[in-house]
Amino acid sequence: MIEYRNLKIALLGAGSVGSRVAQLLLEHGDELASRVGAGLELVGIAVRDVDAERHVSLPRELFTTDAESLILSADIVIELMGGIEPARSYILEALNSGADVVTGNKALLALHGTELFAAAEQVGAQLYYEAAAGGAIPIIRPLRDSLAGDRVKRILGIVNGTTNFILDRMDVDGDTLEGALATATALGYAEADPTADIEGFDAAQKAAILARLAFHSAVPVEAVHREGITSITADQVERARRAGYVVKLLAICERVVDPVTGEEGISARVHPALVSRLHPLAAVHGAKNAVFVEAEAAGDLMFYGAGAGGLETASAVLGDLVSAARRHVAGGPGVGESFTAYLPVVDIGKVQTRYQITLEVVDATGVLATIAGIFSDHDVSVETLEQSSAAAAGPAASPATVAETATLVIVTHRASEQALAATVASLAGNTAVARVTSVMRVEGA
Ligand code: NDP
Ligand code: HSE
Repeated sequence: MIEYRNLKIALLGAGSVGSRVAQLLLEHGDELASRVGAGLELVGIAVRDVDAERHVSLPRELFTTDAESLILSADIVIELMGGIEPARSYILEALNSGADVVTGNKALLALHGTELFAAAEQVGAQLYYEAAAGGAIPIIRPLRDSLAGDRVKRILGIVNGTTNFILDRMDVDGDTLEGALATATALGYAEADPTADIEGFDAAQKAAILARLAFHSAVPVEAVHREGITSITADQVERARRAGYVVKLLAICERVVDPVTGEEGISARVHPALVSRLHPLAAVHGAKNAVFVEAEAAGDLMFYGAGAGGLETASAVLGDLVSAARRHVAGGPGVGESFTAYLPVVDIGKVQTRYQITLEVVDATGVLATIAGIFSDHDVSVETLEQSSAAAAGPAASPATVAETATLVIVTHRASEQALAATVASLAGNTAVARVTSVMRVEGA
């Protein structure tokens, strides 16, 4: 039996993820020690209530409410409490005491990542966060290390399991948004308050983290354009299906070039989008996550798996723990994150993509020419146009409501959001148009 020196591990939080991390660490300690070359001794678990029931049975004597003393006794601190404070202060305290830190706290990293990485670099410590985006999926390390010699062009991520579950139910079962959300809640995917998921806040935090890593630049979470899925209708999903698309909530991080100045920037945005059924992301069903990376030299890569779940996420946390422990054994300073590209985050108005616009129009001579003229006036090029006859238009008080109407489904070539918004405003104000039924971005082509 090899005798190793022990590294002291402090765990902050024993909820869904923390309790599983403690369980795996206690169960597989010997195996991990042989991988690391040092023992990993869980010296304590800080919680709010030491008597609360846990997901798994853990030794009572490990629990404490004195997080600060626990942090000061540790070589490596694992923060799995969530929230901003006191998590932020505890991580700073741990780094300043010379400990490495492992966290899965996306909200904290999206908001205070710059401060925390700077603190780590200053003291030569390391901050690991594989679990903060995509749960069990290894995506942080591939972006930071494996692709460090490449140039990432674009990331398309399905990074929120709850919304993917809801949209998948709507697509596969023809469910309504409300019905699918109720199922997601009943199955425990959605929180009692699902706002962070369905309004895209959770995905926006992950987009900020991924964009910062991929483009070596600070990306404040407030700069991430965010739209949730609450306005998506069963009708839109059905129309998408018939046209060969699936609706997904995407976190998109993209290197963009200003067509006028030629300057590079970053677009970071979260919104529902139409994805071709031929794209690998279309095959991501249920609550699964996937991150599709387009890199200049490597080409297309996809990372797929469980984006949440206590046990699954604990795998990512323990992977980080092993890395941190190996660094302790090898010695030397932590490897700083590189944020030296200083690319600006561009406004959504400047982003270029393709769009699908569904219109109800008056079915009369010259209407198509009028519609085509509106697109042309705004320099938006039409890629495809399909017309089908529609039932009489809805109850809107417009001259068109009394006429026979037709449905037009128009897909554009790439156009700026600004130009598209102006086009849609003109369409909506034209008497030939009874209703702009839907405007969806088309991504992944
Ligand atoms: P939980 O809410 O299940 O657990 C939080 C734990 O932290 C509890 O044990 C709680 O103690 C403890 N805690 C909270 N506040 C304090 C405090 N002020 N002092 C001491 N202890 C405190 O969270 P999760 O396990 O779900 O998530 C943990 C982190 O992992 C979060 O940052 C989350 O975003 C991230 N994450 C979670 C995933 C998941 O699937 N759950 C997936 C990916 C990332 P007590 O039990 O006594 O109340
Ligand atoms: N609420 C998140 C999801 C959990 O649905 O994916 C992981 O961040």
